Amino acid sequence: MANLKLTDVEKTYAGAVNVLNNINLDITQGELIVFVGPSGCGKSTLLRMIAGLEKITGGTLEIDGQVVNDMPPAMRGIAMVFQSYALYPHMTVRENMQFALKIAKKPQSEIDAAVDRAAKMLQLDPYLDRLPKALSGGQRQRVAIGRSIVRDPKVYLFDEPLSNLDAALRVATRIEIAQLKEQMPDSTMIYVTHDQVEAMTLATRIVVLANKGIAQVGAPLDLYERPNSEFVAQFIGSPAMNLLPGEITGTGQQTTIKMEGGGTAVSDYPTTDADMGLKVNVGVRPEDFLETDGDHIFEGKVNITEALGEVTLLYFAKQGEADPVIGKLPGIHAGLRGKPVKLGASPDKVHVFHDGVSLLYR
Ligand SMILES: Nc1ncnc2c1ncn2[C@@H]1O[C@H](COP(=O)(O)OP(=O)(O)OP(=O)(O)O)[C@@H](O)[C@H]1O
Ligand SMILES: [Mg+2]
Repeated sequence: MANLKLTDVEKTYAGAVNVLNNINLDITQGELIVFVGPSGCGKSTLLRMIAGLEKITGGTLEIDGQVVNDMPPAMRGIAMVFQSYALYPHMTVRENMQFALKIAKKPQSEIDAAVDRAAKMLQLDPYLDRLPKALSGGQRQRVAIGRSIVRDPKVYLFDEPLSNLDAALRVATRIEIAQLKEQMPDSTMIYVTHDQVEAMTLATRIVVLANKGIAQVGAPLDLYERPNSEFVAQFIGSPAMNLLPGEITGTGQQTTIKMEGGGTAVSDYPTTDADMGLKVNVGVRPEDFLETDGDHIFEGKVNITEALGEVTLLYFAKQGEADPVIGKLPGIHAGLRGKPVKLGASPDKVHVFHDGVSLLYR
């Protein structure tokens, strides 16, 4: 069993540096929660507080109903895997994996069984007698994960475990972590990453942290399809969602928006008569733009194209603004460079924000 409950958790570092406030989060046994957020927003701090490596300066952390704020790390049944895998260089893979259990004076038969099980799960059997220096970066990170598995913790915490790996190895190791989670359905995992794909593919729920608190919590596709704010809308998804100013001119089950730059957007976001004339930002993801001859949400000249093979990114110069509008069309469209293009979108892909907040979450 390992349910985690954070209630009004806050963190103020020595010298009155307040970095987190009002963190309320219920994590159910078996979940894989991913923390994302801009650099410096407190992801590692939150993880370290859960592990017991950092003091919780306000609020409570409960594990299975018991407040553990003052419980030492070793008693919490939590294992943490860091970005840099600190393996003992003079010990073999097997010795590295056994180490914590030897310190805990477990019987050798139990140690062997635990190491065998972890080595099988992580496909490390062929490397058990090697020293870390004879392993690839991905294999070393797997040993670091193996060291935590042998202790059979209730909760696993991962702080950007794959960020030191090259692109191909990241993908391979990400899939291994997904498979590992499947083999341990009852273990609770919290995973910090900067990588959008890791967050989207691994998470049962994503927690977006920003401005010292939680911006939104939800299943990956919930956050992608129904972001509660412009911040979350632009943080989840790459390239980021385009935001274009306009004014509401029609309300009801569907909302009509007259675009500042010309054209009209229709959104499935519902509005009421009181919303008439409201200044809003229309949000469209680059991948949701469609070329149109009819009513358009955006019209512009293609400044740059980037052909990525499966898609082409179109960058539109926007008069007097630094952020270009970006479109992502399937296939190869190098010929569009320098041409004027009209873009629309299906109403279910058109998001509407007022004062930074989604009209769905007012
Ligand atoms: N020991 C400390 N004393 C004072 N401030 C600290 C301390 N450790 C971290 N901070 C500050 O707390 C904030 C959050 O840091 P944290 O490392 O948790 O961010 P993060 O979200 O993990 O960032 P990154 O994505 O870059 O790893 C930062 O502003 C950081 O400077
Ligand atoms: Mg960090």
